[in-house]
Amino acid sequence: MMRSFLITLSHNRTLRKLLEQTGPGRKVSGRFVAGTTLDDAIRVTEELNAEGFSVSLDSLGESVATEAGARAAAEIYHLLLDRIAAKSLNANVSVKLTGIGLDVSSALGEQVTAEIVEHAARLNNFVRIDMEGTPYTEVTLKLTEHLHGRFPGAVGTVLQAYLYRTNDDTERLLRQGIRIRLCKGAYKEGPEHAFPEKADVDRNYVKLAERMVSSDVYCGMATHDEKMISAVEQFVTQHGIAHDRFEFQMLFGVRRDLQRSLLKRGYRVRVYLPFGTDWYPYFMRRLAERPANVIFILKNLFKS
Ligand code: FDA
Repeated sequence: MMRSFLITLSHNRTLRKLLEQTGPGRKVSGRFVAGTTLDDAIRVTEELNAEGFSVSLDSLGESVATEAGARAAAEIYHLLLDRIAAKSLNANVSVKLTGIGLDVSSALGEQVTAEIVEHAARLNNFVRIDMEGTPYTEVTLKLTEHLHGRFPGAVGTVLQAYLYRTNDDTERLLRQGIRIRLCKGAYKEGPEHAFPEKADVDRNYVKLAERMVSSDVYCGMATHDEKMISAVEQFVTQHGIAHDRFEFQMLFGVRRDLQRSLLKRGYRVRVYLPFGTDWYPYFMRRLAERPANVIFILKNLFKS
């Protein structure tokens, strides 16, 4: 009940305005978000790098409806790439196609994304194209393949273990040497596309993770689920797969204990670090994933 209440609240405009524009709101968002500005993102990246984590930076924003909106969102990524290079940070960027123009027109989305990937390639960096709901799966894969052809190694995407098609998509991307982030999947999908049972999603995640870490392609295992992580650890130990052949990825502020213990055990861990003024829906979705976090947040809200 609490979960669906929080999801409902994530769409509430009044609460959003209130929290996004007030000091206490910005203070609690710091649990899951680096801050509102580019400087905040760079500062927290430096802190995470100092601890031994690599980072993927995500400029928060919902789907944009105009070309100006798409270009403004893309500009933040261009600035980010330059700042990462200037400070030699261990960080890349994650983009959502709908956040940089795909819903305005596919031509605009493709052009804006190509410009970001070209910029990253010039700086020897990397762009991860996040995966959205199933209406975007094929277009995301096709664009990633096209850009990988133009800028080999500078772009990769995400596959979701809850989709039936992901087995085939894994082979399709690995064949081309395209880097994959594997996650369980975060969108509401029907049984025509996705396994309805969590046990099947988990089973598929382990199978796909084993396939990816056995390949020659450097992939990211994105999960906070200790069962998935243990399965990967066991598999790589049994098969003598070196720890630098893949990485674990987790969201900023989620299971920080686990993130640190993986680092200590000699694994690579990349933290997905969101920032920006549009933090409210992202923040509420993280609370909904684990409503116990609400208590932590409320305690902090009333601390001076
Ligand atoms: P699961 O949801 O089963 O949770 C396992 C355990 O993790 C929980 O029992 C709890 O202990 C802990 N946990 C999870 N969320 C928590 C929280 N908010 N606070 C505290 N503990 C928490 N999805 C997508 O569709 N497209 C994408 O591009 C991406 N990108 C992406 C990048 C990265 C780096 C991560 C980590 C995740 C994504 N995702 C994503 C989201 C992903 O699909 C999935 O929805 C979430 O990671 C939750 O699934 P888990 O694998 O963590 O397991």
